[in-house]
Amino acid sequence: MSALWSGNRDRDRDDDRPNDRTAPRQRLLREMTVADLDEVMTVEVIAYPFPWTRGNFIDSLAAGYAARVLHDAVSGELIGYFVAMAGVDEMHLLNITVAPAEEGRGHARFMFDALIVLSAQQGAHDLWLEVRESNARARAADLHFGFTQVGTRKGYYPASFGRREHAVVMSLKIAPPAAEANDALE
Ligand SMILES: CC(C)(COP(=O)(O)OP(=O)(O)OC[C@H]1O[C@@H](n2cnc3c(N)ncnc32)[C@H](O)[C@@H]1OP(=O)(O)O)[C@@H](O)C(=O)NCCC(=O)NCCS
Repeated sequence: MSALWSGNRDRDRDDDRPNDRTAPRQRLLREMTVADLDEVMTVEVIAYPFPWTRGNFIDSLAAGYAARVLHDAVSGELIGYFVAMAGVDEMHLLNITVAPAEEGRGHARFMFDALIVLSAQQGAHDLWLEVRESNARARAADLHFGFTQVGTRKGYYPASFGRREHAVVMSLKIAPPAAEANDALE
């Protein structure tokens, strides 16, 4: 994640809650707009010790970054969101967040899958992210999704008491979309 993205919530999974695969749920992933930001900010400020500001989201939307919100299609409640920046041949994930009450139900995997499809459609060959060194939960999930640790950025994130924390840089190879793969074979 970028320096703005600073997740650090390492909590045990709540195994009482149903897993996504055992309890399918209707979810709706759509583009984030400014109208979503009140709801997004209520999650952001409880999800991170150093949350993004509303202005960070507004700037991201204005810049045309890929930003999506995930809602429960029935209740309409916000489940999570992500923001990613497309570059030349690559996609950089800046923020991915699942509402604390919704963790451990496969929502991050759902959003990562959507982001990977989007990245492939936009011609990205790699998906990058940075994560706090201390964010064991996110790092475990990222490794689980197939990301590889490719380096560290020293003192990348702000930390408590004026200190800084290293970022772990992770990347994932993106396969080309199926049609492109077929073309390549012809
Ligand atoms: C990290 C975060 C996005 C994960 O969201 P989530 O919806 O709880 O994740 P999922 O339920 O989709 O789980 C993702 C995968 O990682 C695995 N996983 C999750 N937590 C884990 C842990 N502590 N140890 C090992 N594996 C873990 C899960 O088993 C799952 O794999 P599966 O699909 O094969 O079961 C969420 O905890 C969050 O928003 N944290 C705060 C913000 C943050 O740190 N974002 C950075 C993410 S890179």
